[in-house]
Amino acid sequence: MEKRNFRKLVCLLALSLSVSPTLAQDGLKDALGKHCLIGTSLNQWQSDAQDAAATAVVRRHFNCATAENCMKMEVLQPAEGLFDFRVADKFVKYCQQNGLKIIGHNLCWHSQAPEWLFTDSWGRPVSKEVLKSRLEKHIATVVGRYKGQIHGWDVVNEAIEDDGSWRQSPLYKILGEEFIEICFRAAHEADPDVELYYNDYSMSKPGKRDAVCRLVRNLKAKGLRIDGVGMQSHNGMDYPDLTEYEKSIDAFATCGVKVMITELDLNVLPNPEGFGGADINQSFELQQKYNPYTAGLPKDVAKKVEERWMQFFRLYSKHRSQISRITLWGISDANSWLNDFPVPGRTNYGLLFDRSYAEKPVVKNIINLYK
Ligand code: G3I
Repeated sequence: MEKRNFRKLVCLLALSLSVSPTLAQDGLKDALGKHCLIGTSLNQWQSDAQDAAATAVVRRHFNCATAENCMKMEVLQPAEGLFDFRVADKFVKYCQQNGLKIIGHNLCWHSQAPEWLFTDSWGRPVSKEVLKSRLEKHIATVVGRYKGQIHGWDVVNEAIEDDGSWRQSPLYKILGEEFIEICFRAAHEADPDVELYYNDYSMSKPGKRDAVCRLVRNLKAKGLRIDGVGMQSHNGMDYPDLTEYEKSIDAFATCGVKVMITELDLNVLPNPEGFGGADINQSFELQQKYNPYTAGLPKDVAKKVEERWMQFFRLYSKHRSQISRITLWGISDANSWLNDFPVPGRTNYGLLFDRSYAEKPVVKNIINLYK
């Protein structure tokens, strides 16, 4: 190459780096991707490809995505036998176009289940046989439609209470604990190659940990497929207890399943007394003391938040051989469910990208930790 051309090339390179320093930097997926999948949930606006800023972040940082809402049962089958795949199809297409492995969320959840599921036309609870057949039909149709395109399904969501007892949902009341195996069997039959998961919040609680381990062992003993356990990880500044949380990572890995951090975010605001977990039925009245940072996080608080993120990521890095996926529950603070939970109308700062989709400084620290 001529000297003059070589100089030109060097100048061009230097210019592109100075104009856009981010071009030369690694994203989360470059660093963490060597050890696990790193994902985000996508809302409808994003997976409809209407949010260019989100797409830029997605392409740079993530290799995997979960549907925040569009694959839930009330969306996919709003009336019995009437399936609506319009939004979910777009989500799948968006993921494929942007190089994202797809996590289906979810096949069976007491919440966001359509009203018709548990009752007959007179509003009375349906029999065991009817509910079993409705679940099987839903799962066969949904998993069958996306056969070969989904990496893994959250088959059952939030079936266990924090103390380890079964959640007294209509699913449990009508079918007993058998509903778990009904769902896992139906999902496996519809797509024998897809990964299957149990997903729940407050997974650091000892009672819940033991019950989830029992659930995994029971399914395996019956010859059913279960690949992983999802620890949702809707975390806060003073919860969960990190020692207990770490015990759960170890316990699930010891059961012989993949451990996944599936809905990671960080509630940084002061919370009302009595609040805990991620049950969306909890709601408290908005008061100024619960919403102190409407104009932005003060520096000292932002520092504490950053340190709290690092506590979690140091733990994930330490357990990198056991954790197969880390998924953030949203991209930007602007569209996090935490702005409305457990107190509606707050300004929360629970994710890794700010309200204008700019990367928070902690992202670089996480990347460096994994490099
Ligand atoms: O789609 C309707 C829209 O048509 C309507 O105009 C609007 C008015 O309120 O509501 C829209 O639906 C909302 C939906 O999110 C989409 O934005 C629902 O009211 C709202 O309840 C729903 O909240 C979701 C919640 O699950 C319940 O499904 C959150 O976005 C979502 O982040 C949250 O995710 C759950 C996981 O699935 C399971 N683990 C806990 C996690 C947090 O609750």
